[in-house]
Amino acid sequence: MSSASSDAGLVLFAWRGCLFRVPDGVQPPKAGSLFFCRHFAVRPGERVLEIGAGLGLAAVLAAKGGAHVVATDVVPEAVAALRANALLNGVEVDARLGDCWAPVAGERFDLIGTNPPQMPTPPGRARSDAAAAADNGGVDGWELLDRVIRGAPERLRPGGRLVFTIFAFLGRKTACAKLEAVGLAPSILASETQDFPRLAYERLEHIRAMDAEATVPRDHTPATVERFVVQGRRPG
Ligand SMILES: C[S@@+](CC[C@H](N)C(=O)[O-])C[C@H]1O[C@@H](n2cnc3c(N)ncnc32)[C@H](O)[C@@H]1O
Repeated sequence: MSSASSDAGLVLFAWRGCLFRVPDGVQPPKAGSLFFCRHFAVRPGERVLEIGAGLGLAAVLAAKGGAHVVATDVVPEAVAALRANALLNGVEVDARLGDCWAPVAGERFDLIGTNPPQMPTPPGRARSDAAAAADNGGVDGWELLDRVIRGAPERLRPGGRLVFTIFAFLGRKTACAKLEAVGLAPSILASETQDFPRLAYERLEHIRAMDAEATVPRDHTPATVERFVVQGRRPG
């Protein structure tokens, strides 16, 4: 008798000449993943780090672009998927398991990127499963990003760039101020209008309460959200 798990099928995602396996427990690519990849511009030979790489879309494309890539995730299934997807696409990615900066202690990079979990999460609603790791960004959405930003200056080579996505309701001015506070020169690399995420509808009142720059309409239910790719550059 065959078990359900041996007959579960295989989900694949094809993009830009690459093929990615999307295993159970790892978030499939979303609009934010593609938006991040489009603006995660690597130069051949650069030493690149992606934090929270998931199944490895950006990491594999960066390696295809000629970068030396370290990619991390806190979810073991994601790191396994990352390794499998690098192999599948014939590139080398140094995939490491661990929280935020822990897997790269003492190392330096030309480019560090993340499309982090950033959905503001009402108090008492945090969880520790893989789906929560992909979405939940702490009460204000900045939990992981704040740690990434604080640690970036000492892990960037002079002239190096930190690149990350945010939803508008995290605050564009807030992002720039956080970068300036650690000595990184901020700029907005790109903006895009995306469908308002299903999870954000479920948390709409909490998100409105966190939305210090008043980006979410108060008088009607939003259909879309603005997304930004933000860069902080370490002076050369
Ligand atoms: C929004 S998903 C993005 C995945 C992929 N980079 C993409 O763009 O599709 C965020 C990823 O960050 C990972 N993550 C969450 N917390 C983390 C942490 N503390 N350290 C490293 N990775 C983390 C999650 O497991 C998830 O794979």
